[in-house]
Amino acid sequence: MIRAARAWAPANLALVKYWGKRDAALNLPATSSLSATLGLFGSEARIVPADTDVLDVQGDPGRALRVIEAARVLTGNRAPLDVVVRNTVPTAVGLASSASSMAALAMALSRALAFEDRPVQTARLARLGSGSAIRSLFGGFVEWDAGIAADGSDCRARTAFPATHLPLAIRVAVTAGGPKEVSSGEAMERCRGTSPSYEGFVRDNPAVLEAARSALADRDIARLGGIAEAQSLQLHEILREASPPIDLLRPASRDVLGVVSRLRERGVPCFFTIDAGPSVAVFVEPRHADAVGSALAAIPGVVQVLEDAVGAAGARFLEEVE
Ligand code: DP6
Repeated sequence: MIRAARAWAPANLALVKYWGKRDAALNLPATSSLSATLGLFGSEARIVPADTDVLDVQGDPGRALRVIEAARVLTGNRAPLDVVVRNTVPTAVGLASSASSMAALAMALSRALAFEDRPVQTARLARLGSGSAIRSLFGGFVEWDAGIAADGSDCRARTAFPATHLPLAIRVAVTAGGPKEVSSGEAMERCRGTSPSYEGFVRDNPAVLEAARSALADRDIARLGGIAEAQSLQLHEILREASPPIDLLRPASRDVLGVVSRLRERGVPCFFTIDAGPSVAVFVEPRHADAVGSALAAIPGVVQVLEDAVGAAGARFLEEVE
């Protein structure tokens, strides 16, 4: 038996990055990470019973199939499903739409296949779909522990600080559309195998995470921003060092970095972060958000500026579908 279910999950942006896997089959990360959950952009998943499987997933249907199969193994329920997943965040511009879509799918499956009383399983399924999806289950500033257990039992995520702890607006400079050329998983593997500075990135991760946690605890935007920017630059350095190299940034992405640093010189508390794509997200005190938005929109090559903020809530169920 299948119950109709709908779930929503927000996207998230990493301040301390997950990059590389300690176990590819279980999708366990090599580094612990810290992210900010978004308030508006995300994904919706809807599941209803069907006569035969129907899968309509924006993005990568292969990931969705992996999550659905894991839910079937968990519950033994193989009844056919009609699954729709839609993103309200542009797919594959580096805004981790796979995170919100896989978190929404895992949530919806937990109700459709009746395991919503087992949040650890929902988290495992979201993570199998996309590592960063586990963070989209939670609101505010979220920590995801890499853990060391071979079975992933200590690989958990939780809200480290609520969104109200440090209210921040987010403006995302979208610098190019179109799908990414290399998937995150493939890029991670290449970096792990060929980038000389990848090892140091993993080694430094516990100290970087601790520093970010302490900056957040102190509500210190300058320190937190310094860490997030350094992590982003290091990630893209590691990508460029890979063999063959992966350069995801566009000239306009680099121009955004210059504008952010000039805004900061003029006294606007803001910082950037970049995930695995050409778009650059800028975190800013809410009262300066409009100024940042206008400055980003004026950069040639910035095709769109998305407006959001750090959001209070993680993935949640929506009203039942008919
Ligand atoms: C750069 O979560 O997309 O955004 O587990 O292979 O699906 P898979 O990777 P994914 O990688 C996200 C990488 C990142 C950094 C981060 O979100 O921490």
